[in-house]
Amino acid sequence: MVSRVIPVEPFDLVVFGGTGDLARRKILPALFRRFCSGQMEENSRIIGAARSDHSQDEYRQMVAEAIAEFNTTSHCEAGTLDAFLDRIDYVHVDAKGEEGWKTLADLMQPGKVRAFYFSVAPSLFGDLAERLHTHGMADSDSRIVVEKPFGRDLETAKALNDVLAQHFHESQIYRIDHYLGKETVQNLMAVRFGNMLFEPLWNSQYVDHIQITVAETVGVGGRGEYYDRSGAMRDMVQNHLMQLLCLIAMEPPAKFDPDAVRDEKLKVIRALNPVEPADIVRGQYGPEKRNGPDYISDVENPRATSESFIALRVGISNWRWAGTPFYLRTGKKLKARASEIAVVFKETPHSIFGPEAGRHRNILTIRLQPNEGMDLDVTIKEPGPGGMRLIDVPLDMTFADALGPDGEEVPDAYERLIMDVIRGNQTLFMRGDEVEAAWAWTDPIIGGWESRGDRPVTYEPGSSGPEDALALIHRDGRRWREIRS
Ligand code: BG6
Repeated sequence: MVSRVIPVEPFDLVVFGGTGDLARRKILPALFRRFCSGQMEENSRIIGAARSDHSQDEYRQMVAEAIAEFNTTSHCEAGTLDAFLDRIDYVHVDAKGEEGWKTLADLMQPGKVRAFYFSVAPSLFGDLAERLHTHGMADSDSRIVVEKPFGRDLETAKALNDVLAQHFHESQIYRIDHYLGKETVQNLMAVRFGNMLFEPLWNSQYVDHIQITVAETVGVGGRGEYYDRSGAMRDMVQNHLMQLLCLIAMEPPAKFDPDAVRDEKLKVIRALNPVEPADIVRGQYGPEKRNGPDYISDVENPRATSESFIALRVGISNWRWAGTPFYLRTGKKLKARASEIAVVFKETPHSIFGPEAGRHRNILTIRLQPNEGMDLDVTIKEPGPGGMRLIDVPLDMTFADALGPDGEEVPDAYERLIMDVIRGNQTLFMRGDEVEAAWAWTDPIIGGWESRGDRPVTYEPGSSGPEDALALIHRDGRRWREIRS
């Protein structure tokens, strides 16, 4: 398979928080990989900006170290790193003061795409936007990129939207949810809307239920303070799982265009039912070994009531999905790292093979990571004599196999998303109203457990989560898919 890399327009990308964790782990290695693949034109530049004082050489050294540690590509020719570092500048900027802003403004070159990546605490968004405006860098062509968490409830999200809107139009604001940049997540849309096969069956008449699982094996150690303020609901459900739910449940947009897609996602969020307390299970992982760290010690808060696991039964009130439950679960320290969506179809209305043939159903599983691919459980005759016995076998398509050894390395989500910012394509970014609608649904759920004083239950690390989460789906006569990589 021959890859087609189309260079993007020349750009100046300023990374505020250019020495921070996200820049080192994700943003700079992603830019390096796009550079290696030939997507950055000669005069494109990356300008790191942060509060600490570094010379240009020191910053380039820091970037080189970050790439050595976090870059995963094998497709880079020798000498490429030096050429990449030549594109890098550094400016010492104080978000809350005047220092560095004139230097930054003087560095901007006319006629290029101008993008500002706010890889900083949301409390600084307003200051950055204001100073970009004052120093003439917030013109109608500039773009800003902001990271999650976008607020911690509806009120704070609205306040952030308002602050940004003072100097930037919605079409200039790129709110990142990195799940949307994942190749397999984009594939959800390709599978649904690029095939005739699935869409006619994609509704409550044929679909029994849908499961969305994002399971991780890591704990929250190292990010305990942040995590204790968020919990899995704010950290994962309000954004990543919500986006997956939208892509699975939305109506076909008229075209693959930013507002057409986001309008349809918004309709799904607005049609979500409130969630009853009985339809939620929250958990905290216990100690791995006797006296080993548990969730409470990882977040360093003996009274923590935040959750490292959550399972929810969610309903959508619209014509397509009324009556079809969506079971969502996500958690840390589970038995495997596995993200998948399973669309479980209904049984045939009548079995011509009699009761001894058993009950069978088709399940379409879309594996998001790892081992990206899809399989469709199909019922066939068990080979051999002895009558008509039926078994379910998977029609398996692992993308790495299907695309062959020459298939391209799967790009990291950030590569795709940053290049989309430069191209000016907002399809894979969240719109302000979408984020607000997601919080409007999330707030009463969190408010409910806070006011009732509900506490998460403990689950064993390396398990599938709390027993209660199994019961949540069992009581409907269904069961979770096995969590496995
Ligand atoms: C982040 C969350 O947004 O997504 C983390 O803050 C989580 O808690 C991560 O671990 C998962 O992302 P991925 O790409 O590893 O599935």
